[in-house]
Amino acid sequence: MSLQLGDLAPDFTAQTTEGPITFHAWLGNSWGVLFSHPKDFTPVCTTELGEVAKLKPEFEKRGTKVIGLSVDPVADHVAWSRDIADVQGQAPNFPMIADADRRISLLYGMIHPSASDSMTVRSVFVIGPDKRIKLTLTYPASTGRNFDELLRVLDSLQLTARHQVATPANWKAGQDVIIVPAVSDADARARYPHGWRAPKPYLRFVPAPPAI
Ligand code: BEZ
Repeated sequence: MSLQLGDLAPDFTAQTTEGPITFHAWLGNSWGVLFSHPKDFTPVCTTELGEVAKLKPEFEKRGTKVIGLSVDPVADHVAWSRDIADVQGQAPNFPMIADADRRISLLYGMIHPSASDSMTVRSVFVIGPDKRIKLTLTYPASTGRNFDELLRVLDSLQLTARHQVATPANWKAGQDVIIVPAVSDADARARYPHGWRAPKPYLRFVPAPPAI
């Protein structure tokens, strides 16, 4: 069965562009994003990796480490990084796993044989400080991912990890949030003495509490 939300992210050791990594130890107490790209020296992946490199300060602001993976050796990752710097103005500044034997791709279900039996799909796993999987995404090779959406999801995940709130459709950091149904009105009154806006009794909006 594929990895599901709440599952422990499998630990592994791997060769990367920043030397050998043991995944859980490398994560430490941080949040993590593990994402696969189908193949080195391919066009969409070139744009994606440059984009993630440019967004690294945004991931750092969210206490999140990023690590890429493809089924090519370290030497290819290194040579390709120079192309990415040429095209995108920024070389990858995070480790890229060299999964030439597909061991980690198979462990994480990143190879979907009906799409391709040799390349990974575009998988994303967001992993919490407890090493549990908080979010999964699967895109086909032909569709580059929206990494601003990934940052938005991290904002939501980190807020909801600390407070008993949920975030509505298209929510962005700073906008009102929803008190989860598990919190009774009596408990909500204690937490939110200024009250809430309730278009329906089960839909209670409050200003977002501070993320930390
Ligand atoms: C790409 O990154 O451009 C790509 C990789 C594999 C298949 C199709 C596109």
